[in-house]
Amino acid sequence: MEKILVLDFGGQYNLLIARRVREQNVYAEIKPYNKISAKDIIEGGYKGVIFTGGPNSVYDEKAPRCGKDILYAGVPVLGICYGAQLMAYLCGGEIRSAGSLGEYGKVALTVKTDKLFDGVEKESVCWMSHTDYISRLPEGFSVTATTAHCPCAAMSDGKNLFAVQFHPEVTHTLYGKTILKNFLFGICGCSGDWKMSDFAKDSVEFFRNKLAGKKVLCALSGGVDSSVAAVLLHKAVGENLTCVFVDHGLLRKDEGDLVEKTFKEKFDMNLIRVNAQELFLGKLAGVSEPERKRKIIGEEFIRVFEKEAKKIGKVNYLVQGTIYPDVVESGEGEASTIKSHHNVGGLPSVVDFDEIVEPLRYLFKDEVRAVGRELGIPEELVSRQPFPGPGLAIRVIGEITEEKLRLLREADAIFREEVAKIPGKAPDQYFAVLTDTRSVGVMGDARTYGYTVALRAVTTDDFMTADWTRLPYETLEKSASRIVNEVPLVGRVVYDVTSKPPATVEWE
Ligand code: XMP
Repeated sequence: MEKILVLDFGGQYNLLIARRVREQNVYAEIKPYNKISAKDIIEGGYKGVIFTGGPNSVYDEKAPRCGKDILYAGVPVLGICYGAQLMAYLCGGEIRSAGSLGEYGKVALTVKTDKLFDGVEKESVCWMSHTDYISRLPEGFSVTATTAHCPCAAMSDGKNLFAVQFHPEVTHTLYGKTILKNFLFGICGCSGDWKMSDFAKDSVEFFRNKLAGKKVLCALSGGVDSSVAAVLLHKAVGENLTCVFVDHGLLRKDEGDLVEKTFKEKFDMNLIRVNAQELFLGKLAGVSEPERKRKIIGEEFIRVFEKEAKKIGKVNYLVQGTIYPDVVESGEGEASTIKSHHNVGGLPSVVDFDEIVEPLRYLFKDEVRAVGRELGIPEELVSRQPFPGPGLAIRVIGEITEEKLRLLREADAIFREEVAKIPGKAPDQYFAVLTDTRSVGVMGDARTYGYTVALRAVTTDDFMTADWTRLPYETLEKSASRIVNEVPLVGRVVYDVTSKPPATVEWE
């Protein structure tokens, strides 16, 4: 399979680079900068290498640096931002701090004739984010682009080595796509025949060989990610996979049954459903602080899972449906932790296993969905909106009771039914929240004092930022009227019109 290696130096747009490559139908694999040698590149059959950006300065004592031999493995290399500076440094050039002349954001770019810039206008706009710059070029290199404050916004050795100080992977770089395309097709000679279906097929094949005859365990939540991971592994190892589905009693209406039915009936999987509603609600009784709720659920989840895993005994592999945004949001990268998502980490320490398998770790949500479709997972599961691990616990504001959960389930189901009637693409996430505010109303001739339900719908690409969705008034009106009429004890419905940031998608 034709593939490009993205060598990760810790920058914030790294995954985006891989994604942009895959969007051009070339498979991209991401590897940490210190886990690869020139030999690996040659033996791995990579058509090209991209050095990503990174937060360091190349002269820092702890700066991530790969071996110079990688530059001369015989395949083209494109250095981006820090990657460009590292290329210059490794080849004998010099880097300096630009001080107050660092560039951040959109900057005017002037390019010269170069294979990398075929089809790029002489004057355009690029996205910069750098404090250091290449102050002296290595021997044999020439400048191929400049900006007002950056004498070397791009360079090349005229053969295999190319570097850009700006970020072609970010959409604000007007010709970013063209530049990456030139690298992939014009320079690396890729043909662009890779498809997402190949990813599914190749992964199944890969795990079939790697895990042959081994016991595999998977925690299934019913969400898109763990479902896709489970089906992928099931196709690879069949009966050797056991899925454990912990029903914590915080799922949406009818959800537990749907998950069980789909995986047992449609996929004929070894599925153990653990009904732990009482246990979870018992532990959550009287708790109203959001982070406490999350911690309790996370810990209890691990405990229940551990108990089931012990019954199965030693397994060789533990499957996790971790996808890339989980990794970032949980603060594994540079980003700080806003909320402790409970689906990352935790489980490994309690299961007796040899290795973790994370088949989706480098994929974005839409890519995971595409893989799911390829694997034949029903559309209603594949196109599901995300649902947080702690479930409705973080949508019942304040203390959780069975009654509140029941009300919320009904209100949420009505809202989802109404949103489903809107033609076209659904919002990326939409749900009801049971607030802890009660308000006065009038029904018949009597005074009521009911709960307030908040409706939330967001439009987003990556859930790291999100805009509130402008739902049609009719949908809001119908939802509100049905909720107050059909759900007893709810007396008022409001719509959340806050974006993220400053709010988050969930209320807790
Ligand atoms: P926030 O509220 O952080 O949500 O803006 C962003 C996305 O993450 C989901 N979310 C979670 N998912 N475990 C999860 O698996 C969690 O603890 C969790 N908290 C939030 C949220 O539903 C939204 O899609």
